[in-house]
Amino acid sequence: MTTTHGSETTTQGTLHGKVALVTGGSRGIGAATALRLAREGADVAVTYLNGKDAAEEVVRAVQALGRRAVALRADAGDAEEAAGAVGLTAEALGGLDVLVNNVGVGVLGPLEGLSLGDVDRVLAVNVRGVFLATQAAAARMTAGGRIITIGTCMTQRVPGPGGTLYAAGKSALIGLTKALARELGPRGITANIVHPGPVDTDLNPADGPYAAGQAAMTALGRFGTAEEVASMVAYLAGADYVTGAEFSVDGGHSA
Ligand SMILES: NC(=O)c1ccc[n+]([C@@H]2O[C@H](COP(=O)([O-])OP(=O)(O)OC[C@H]3O[C@@H](n4cnc5c(N)ncnc54)[C@H](OP(=O)(O)O)[C@@H]3O)[C@@H](O)[C@H]2O)c1
Repeated sequence: MTTTHGSETTTQGTLHGKVALVTGGSRGIGAATALRLAREGADVAVTYLNGKDAAEEVVRAVQALGRRAVALRADAGDAEEAAGAVGLTAEALGGLDVLVNNVGVGVLGPLEGLSLGDVDRVLAVNVRGVFLATQAAAARMTAGGRIITIGTCMTQRVPGPGGTLYAAGKSALIGLTKALARELGPRGITANIVHPGPVDTDLNPADGPYAAGQAAMTALGRFGTAEEVASMVAYLAGADYVTGAEFSVDGGHSA
């Protein structure tokens, strides 16, 4: 079925009737994922921390595709808010079928320069918040539920110094994903993790000071786009027989 909404024409996709929550969906990979899932037919909630205007822009773009959308301010570093976003999504959109644990912060630098505050913040946002959102989502999901987590190519290959804290936190998400697959598989819920390579976003701009070196580390010699990562997330959101698996979308960074 094809529907036209203003300037956008959408096709009823594989996620028609599903509700997705994309954490950190106001910008970058999360925003691209929210739009891609909406194009596949899902209604979408996005969380943000400071970017209210950007999040509302994503909501308008999803609505222009004929889907329902809501922006939620929920700090992933706050335990209650990280878990609470799941309930707010279900209240606003009538359930939860797909959780995309996208939110993540990157604190890179020499080991000796990382403060206790850095350690606590990165682990709170990148690990504890993901765990708590997942726990809340799993409690609500029924058969067909999907948990998709964004890791990093630095869990596969660390090409230079400065990545201890970031790689440690993201690597924990691989263990979480595999254990979730075993625990939730009997309920028909899948869990997978996607490892982006260098992707052009505010976090890691393709014209930034370290960009050329990162592009050179990939087999394809370039940065990826947020849409390229989003398309893997969309595949996993629609896949029934894929769970506990890691997917690199990294231009060959880990090759
Ligand atoms: N870009 C890359 O090269 C790359 C490579 C590998 C992995 N990744 C991973 O991909 C994911 C997305 O990265 P990105 O490059 O798209 O990042 P980004 O451009 O910095 O966007 C981050 C998003 O997360 C939100 N956010 C940040 N801290 C938050 C918090 N405490 N609570 C709620 N929302 C918060 C931001 O919201 P506001 O607008 O409110 O700030 C924004 O929507 C991250 O997990 C990152 O580690 C990225």
